[in-house]
Amino acid sequence: MASENLWAGRFRESLAEIAHRFSSSIALDGRLYREDIAGSIAHVRMLGATGVLAVDEATRIATALEEIRGEIERGELELDARHEDVHMAIEGRLIEKLGPGGGALHTARSRNDQVALDERLYLRSALDGLADAITELQRVLLKCAEEHAGTLMPGYTHTQRAQPVLLAHHLLAYASMFDRDRERLLDCRRRTNRSPLGAAALAGTSFAIDRMMVAGELGFDGIVENSMDAVSDRDYIIEAVAACSITMMHLSRIAEDLVLWSTPEFGFVTIGDAFTTGSSIMPQKKNPDMAELVRGRTGRVYGSLISLLTMMKGLPLAYNRDMQEDKGPMFEAIDTTRDALAIMAPMLASSTFHGTRMASQADAGFSLATEVADYLVRRGLPFREAHHITGRVVAHCVERGCALNDLDPVAFRTFSPLFEEDIAEYLRPATSIALKGSAGSTAPAEVQRQLAHWRGVLGARA
Ligand code: ARG
Repeated sequence: MASENLWAGRFRESLAEIAHRFSSSIALDGRLYREDIAGSIAHVRMLGATGVLAVDEATRIATALEEIRGEIERGELELDARHEDVHMAIEGRLIEKLGPGGGALHTARSRNDQVALDERLYLRSALDGLADAITELQRVLLKCAEEHAGTLMPGYTHTQRAQPVLLAHHLLAYASMFDRDRERLLDCRRRTNRSPLGAAALAGTSFAIDRMMVAGELGFDGIVENSMDAVSDRDYIIEAVAACSITMMHLSRIAEDLVLWSTPEFGFVTIGDAFTTGSSIMPQKKNPDMAELVRGRTGRVYGSLISLLTMMKGLPLAYNRDMQEDKGPMFEAIDTTRDALAIMAPMLASSTFHGTRMASQADAGFSLATEVADYLVRRGLPFREAHHITGRVVAHCVERGCALNDLDPVAFRTFSPLFEEDIAEYLRPATSIALKGSAGSTAPAEVQRQLAHWRGVLGARA
């Protein structure tokens, strides 16, 4: 049964049981008790310091709030469905402990600015955690790339062999993607890290509070200036979840590489036993379930983003109860992204890349055809013509069931007199990558430059 609501003054009847259950958010926002208590302590200290409350009254409330934190941590105070939300549960307990005087805590405050504060505090540290988890993953990528700085493999477009690349180059592409994800998360943190407290319900307050003082005490960079903006927007959560969605998209793609590469058909990688599972019926199976789950859970995060955007789109200013629905998607997105990052790093570290097998496929499937065309271009042919002639060479090989490097220079010359003895040299993957002198290419020298870059960047991070 719901306890008497703290706002029940103007009501004659109590809330219907079903309405209470329908509207209680404590199952989700109970997670925010630490943030809620930290915010309340900062608020009440400020009320004491500004003379809105007597200093000893403020101190008594702050001390009781600390005790309540201990009670929750020790499992003595259950945050359960009797309460409407985490704010009411804590304030209710405060009043239970201190008597009606505990109710002074809510002076110059509303749950509208309170909940926004709790979420901003939670999100700030969640974003830091995600940024650190990305750094961990980047370190693993760098280590794998260093081990495979000389490993050749086929690079793909359309999942068809395209041109030879270095495995390190492929891995460092992800290091770059995750670095942008990290930047997005930390950029969002900047906008998140502003205190909404003091906006009260929407209009501000007539008490002589000091918003900057609370902001400073809680480590915020400043306040959300406009009080209506402060209580009515959730764009910081939406941004965070958008950044998580992009991160998950990248994680899902690397997961897909692992799934594909660990098939016997590819045979490029063996994921460690600790991150693969067997089949209950087929004894030979070693399934990449963790990688598949990273891929599969991406949908949860995208779903969260759409939920939030949809929830917000038609709301008139300022606070509306719809906004209580932000917590599920926020936690879902953060938890899922955190878990996916946390498993991807050790899963990659556990994986063995089969360099010999990869190298053996590097020149298969005519992946050096572009080299042949480029060769003709360097001898004066316009690229389109060179492309056409090379296409005919490839068609000839397909007909005969042979590879480009099975043809001798004489055979090449039947397609163009520009081919000379040295064409054979260009039909090696190592030559192909070495020739890619352009900035950011897969040439060994460029890959070394990237490795040095990431060693510097990741080495400098805590
Ligand atoms: N549980 C509410 C939420 O998450 C707290 C704010 C309630 N404010 C209100 N005016 N009913 O949004």
